[in-house]
Amino acid sequence: MSEQGKPTVTVLGLGRMGTPIAAAFLSAGYSTTVWNRTPEKADALVAQGAIRAVTVAEAVAASPLVIVPLLDYNAVRQALEPATTALPGRVLVNLANGAPEQARELAAWAAGHGADYLDGAMMALPQTVATPEGFFLYSGSRKAFVTYRTELEVMAASHYFGVDPGLAEIHDLALLGTGYAALTGFLHAAAVLDAVGTTPAEFAPLAARWLNGIAQFLPELAREAGSGRYEGGVSTVDLNRVGVDNLIHISRANGIDTGVHEPLKALLDRRSADGHGKDSFSSVFELLRPQDAPQR
Ligand SMILES: NC(=O)c1ccc[n+]([C@@H]2O[C@H](COP(=O)([O-])OP(=O)(O)OC[C@H]3O[C@@H](n4cnc5c(N)ncnc54)[C@H](OP(=O)(O)O)[C@@H]3O)[C@@H](O)[C@H]2O)c1
Repeated sequence: MSEQGKPTVTVLGLGRMGTPIAAAFLSAGYSTTVWNRTPEKADALVAQGAIRAVTVAEAVAASPLVIVPLLDYNAVRQALEPATTALPGRVLVNLANGAPEQARELAAWAAGHGADYLDGAMMALPQTVATPEGFFLYSGSRKAFVTYRTELEVMAASHYFGVDPGLAEIHDLALLGTGYAALTGFLHAAAVLDAVGTTPAEFAPLAARWLNGIAQFLPELAREAGSGRYEGGVSTVDLNRVGVDNLIHISRANGIDTGVHEPLKALLDRRSADGHGKDSFSSVFELLRPQDAPQR
């Protein structure tokens, strides 16, 4: 039984993310039903007090709130298809990574089976579930988000974007894109430094310090990109062309692949050739936007 006033919760999928999610609900005093395709993965949670469901239908029937941290949207559909009779009246919170249209499609499918749908994206690692470092994004049913906000906050701090179920996924992918660029930049730099005798482990703290500093630069970039006004910036296109050229030079000199920075060099070169060399670095935004976007 959950502690007084707490709804029961079901977690479908006990992979790297599902396991700490189920553990967080147990720690927070929720009666937690779990299901996993490979049943043994539930054993440790059952030993901690989770209720094992043998079928997905049994798991869905057990709780009004069904959290689904499965691998992808195909896995979600495959798992839920045999359990559609249990779906009416349930709130499905799908946490699998996917594309916005997959979220909209799944929301429509869930509605067709009488379930309310929240799409979620986990900006967390397994070890940061239920810690201040992790946060989850949501979109879809506002009613479901408001009703179960307390339960969602057991997993991570929650950000709700609106009723379009695709909004969480597009924000998730945008944040992944931001992270991939930074992390690929780090790995490239680590390869350069490794070639000259500084190990990746030695470089990591320095890079972390630099990335923290760079994050402070985001509001200025956002202000410029949002307004389309790029004059007077301290870090111009031409200044950064030199920096990126030098970066490509030291990569070549040390036998390191230059593929990470060539696209940026091409953008800066185009911007400069178009007569915008004195504009702020952020003005590459103008080349990244759809070319038929309205002038600002
Ligand atoms: N790992 C991370 O750091 C991280 C961080 C943020 C977001 N995510 C996202 O979270 C989601 C889950 O990732 P994860 O790392 O937890 O993955 P994972 O450890 O590989 O676990 C995948 C889960 O999906 C199940 N599954 C896969 N295909 C299935 C199918 N056809 N039918 C039923 N169950 C199926 C697996 O069951 P079995 O145990 O039977 O294989 C397992 O429970 C992904 O969308 C991922 O992108 C992951």
